[in-house]
Amino acid sequence: MRTLKSDARPTTENPDGPVILALESSCDDTGAAVIRAGRLLVNRTAGQEIHARYGGVVPELASRAHEQHLVPLVLATLAEAKVAPHDLDAVAVTRGPGLLGSLLVGTSFAKAFAAGLGIPLIGVNHMRAHVLAHFIEEPRPPFPFLCLTVSGGHTQLLVVRSPTNFEVMGQTMDDAVGEAFDKAAKLLGLPYPGGPALDKLAQTAQPGPFATAFRVNDQPGFEFSFSGIKTQILYFLRDQNRLNPAFVDENRPALCAAIQDALVGALIRKLRRAVRETGIRHVAIAGGVAANSGLRAALHATAAQDEWAHVYIPAFEYCTDNAAMVAMTAHFQYEAGDFADGFLTPDPRLSIAD
Ligand code: KG4
Ligand code: ZN
Repeated sequence: MRTLKSDARPTTENPDGPVILALESSCDDTGAAVIRAGRLLVNRTAGQEIHARYGGVVPELASRAHEQHLVPLVLATLAEAKVAPHDLDAVAVTRGPGLLGSLLVGTSFAKAFAAGLGIPLIGVNHMRAHVLAHFIEEPRPPFPFLCLTVSGGHTQLLVVRSPTNFEVMGQTMDDAVGEAFDKAAKLLGLPYPGGPALDKLAQTAQPGPFATAFRVNDQPGFEFSFSGIKTQILYFLRDQNRLNPAFVDENRPALCAAIQDALVGALIRKLRRAVRETGIRHVAIAGGVAANSGLRAALHATAAQDEWAHVYIPAFEYCTDNAAMVAMTAHFQYEAGDFADGFLTPDPRLSIAD
């Protein structure tokens, strides 16, 4: 029987390797996963439909939904993994970045659960977890590799030197690229979340006459800026609508294709330069926008043209927010002896370097 300790340290009870329960609640997806000796056993995600009717994530509603989903999700995940609470060696939880109320639900539960079982707690950085999602399945990138994390909240270009060494080459100075996809989709009258809807329509058309209508202006170095294209789209549509009120309805797929090309083009230009300047030819993408068909196609085409060694794109369920990536990161931290104490607190602005 283990004793009740808030700063418990590992007891290596599982000879095969640690069994870790991981939780994710940084935004609007509640996730629970179990990993044994670095091999994922179960990954479950409970999404939150409620935000669709507001056209964006409502933080207050997100934390309430996490609070409702978390306990049933944890119990179902443990049952599916055939792991009893007393089989666990550690509990891991996302501690930031993210929405404070959402993070608090996960961290409060994790602290209480770990303390109750007398096992250690691992605090996980959500941005590191997106990157380390690449280690859940083969092929796993060799270190160092370049990773472009593209999500609704982040656009970050990194050199990943080890599971604990992340060097930021550049990031967005304003909107994230996922946010740009979502805002463009909204202007085109597509339902939330707009990124996947815009992608779907873009696949049915060519940009045609709109091929040069939108452009993301390149920032110096490896920084990104995606706020300008939103204004370009807004003014372009306003001017066209004055001439023809049915303009968007008549041209939606081609507009989607043109906007997608502009956003993807900006990402690819920076990636190509990063490969040239660093000489690192193993290139990974992570985050929800990694699901984008245009980005995937452009990556493969660029890899062939520029003779990159390999392109790594995680399975879709490990691109969007999920607990499997938290579990994978926690495994590395467990091996490195990186444990939190009972005072772990969420940090909504946690940087990948922290
Ligand atoms: O990683 P994620 O699930 O959550 C954050 O941490 O932000 O990313 C969600 C973002 C949203 O902006 C969504 O519209 C975008 O990823 N997204 C896409 C696609 N699938 C998801 N954007 C463009 N094309 C897609 N196929
Ligand atoms: Zn995320």
